[in-house]
Parts: sequence; C-alpha cells; structure tokens
Amino acid sequence: MSESVIVAGLVTLLFSSLSAYDLKSNMLLLNAELSEVQRAFISSDQKGVDESVKRFAKHAQDLLGNKEKFAAMLPDKKKNKAGEAVMSAQIISHNVQIILDAVENKYNQSGQVRREEAQRAYTYIEHACFRCHNLVRDEY
Ligand code: HEC
Repeated sequence: MSESVIVAGLVTLLFSSLSAYDLKSNMLLLNAELSEVQRAFISSDQKGVDESVKRFAKHAQDLLGNKEKFAAMLPDKKKNKAGEAVMSAQIISHNVQIILDAVENKYNQSGQVRREEAQRAYTYIEHACFRCHNLVRDEY
C-alpha cells in the first residue's frame, strides 16, 4: 500500500468521524432545546414557549433544512435517507408556525383553543424526530 493511500484513508476516517461528531452534537443541542419547549408548555410559561420555540426552530432549520449538508453527516449506508431531513424540517417549521401563531393570537381564538393547538403542534414536532430515527435506525 502506498503512503498516499494510507494518508487518504486516514483523512477519510478523520472526516467521517468529525461529521458523526457534528451530527451527534447537533442532535444533542436540538434535543435540549426541544426539552426547553416541553418544560415551558408543562409549566404554562407562555413567554418561555415563545422564546424556546424560536431558538429550537432556528437550529432545526439549520440542521435539517439542507439535504446535502445533512447527507454529509450521515454514515454511507444511510445517506439515502437524507431526503427525510428536509421533509422533517418542513413538518417541524409548519408546527413551529402553529405555535407562534397561537402565542401571538393571530386568528383571534380563545386561550384554551390556542393552548391546545400549540401543544398538539409540539407533539407533531416530536413525532417528526421519532419518524426519522426509526427510518435511520431500523435495518430495512
Ligand atoms: C432526518 C433524520 C433525523 C431527524 C428529523 C432527527 N434526527 Fe436525531 N438523529 C438522527 C441520526 C441519523 C442520529 C445519529 C444516529 C443514531 O443515533 O441512530 C440522531 C441522533 C440523535 C440523538 C442521539 C445523539 C447521541 O448519539 O447521543 C438525539 C438526542 C437526537 N437525535 C434528537 C433528535 C430530536 C430531538 C429531533 C427532533 C427535533 C431529531 N433528533 C430529529 C436523525 C434525525
């Protein structure tokens, strides 16, 4: 084996573990931010919901919104699942918007209706996380 092959191998190894690290640290951040949203809902902290969901939305979009960028972080045999990231990003941003509209009372609804719609939207966001994890983890 020539030296350049070895060097190329090492570089590939380094970069693939770096991108795995990227994916992991980004996912951990997303998880922490979604937990903040959950905490705010559970404690009926409306201002907290507004702030935490905006923070979460930005990172969710940055991480999931770009198919090529997300694909680069996935292991080779899972790269074909990258399209799912964009789909999930859309589901997430749609539901984030529902929560923000409820907080701002865009449609002039009662507090009870807005609360329930926003909380349901939160569960749909979680569902988008589970959905992709099932897809990337199940071996089919
Ligand atoms: C498009 C696919 C996709 C979506 C959507 C997605 N994830 Fe992930 N997530 C992954 C992949 C791939 C991994 C790394 C491989 C693994 O853990 O199986 C991962 C790993 C994780 C981890 C584990 C990190 C570790 O290794 O300790 C957490 C926590 C996590 N995701 C949280 C979330 C949350 C919260 C959401 C929703 C807001 C979400 N993910 C949405 C694909 C996704």
